[in-house]
Amino acid sequence: MKVISVLGQKGGSGKTTLTLSLAVAAYKANKSVAVIDLDPQASACKWGDRRNADPVIISVQPARLRNVLATARENGADLVLIDTPGRLEQSAIAAAQEADLILIPCRPTIKDTETIESTISLIRAARTKAKLAVILNGVPSRGAQREQAEDAIRSMAIPVYPFFLSNRVAFTHADVLGLSAQEFEPSGQGAREIKEIYRFTCELLNSATSQQSKGKNHGKKTRLTAGA
Ligand SMILES: Nc1ncnc2c1ncn2[C@@H]1O[C@H](COP(=O)(O)OP(=O)(O)OP(=O)(O)O)[C@@H](O)[C@H]1O
Ligand SMILES: [Mg+2]
Repeated sequence: MKVISVLGQKGGSGKTTLTLSLAVAAYKANKSVAVIDLDPQASACKWGDRRNADPVIISVQPARLRNVLATARENGADLVLIDTPGRLEQSAIAAAQEADLILIPCRPTIKDTETIESTISLIRAARTKAKLAVILNGVPSRGAQREQAEDAIRSMAIPVYPFFLSNRVAFTHADVLGLSAQEFEPSGQGAREIKEIYRFTCELLNSATSQQSKGKNHGKKTRLTAGA
């Protein structure tokens, strides 16, 4: 079983959108997938209520996260995605500790990129063995904001995905209906972007497995080696 934790100190960066989009992509790829919602606002759970269909979404207190993951493993889950609240450090640390891969969605603005360092500090405090990468979200169709944000993040030695999510109304419309963008508009550009991100995420998870089976640096420090 693989665990992806979606983190970020900044509110509204796209944590829940990314978590749910990847969960639906995995579900459509016939994976046994569950979403754990650590956010007291329960945005992922409420989306699940609107949807009233798989994937399974469970609201969990951070103190119970390890037990819930153990149960998911016993029940044969392939993938668990953890959605976290913006400002609750205990949740972020618990999610980072359990992750194989940490994804940090970030909007391409200076205010958003500036918060990345505090998110990274939290992740370091968690002493996780997880891989980590930023995914740019809400990228405008014009201008150089994406390139500027990528440069700012890479200058902190933090990997950035080579794929991103554009600013598209499909994401907000889908949210209202309890759908993901790939369900709302299967042949749309948002669906294509999610597919690319899902495929790249699977590659990262697979390479994490092969590194861990070689026993390299296991548990010693955060590896910022997403290869992106
Ligand atoms: N790429 C996008 N294009 C357009 N709208 C988006 C995009 N990504 C997210 N949104 C919208 O922005 C809002 C915030 O996104 P989301 O809830 O995923 O952020 P969050 O990081 O989970 O926020 P919070 O910190 O409050 O949990 C939602 O209304 C969502 O539909
Ligand atoms: Mg959220």
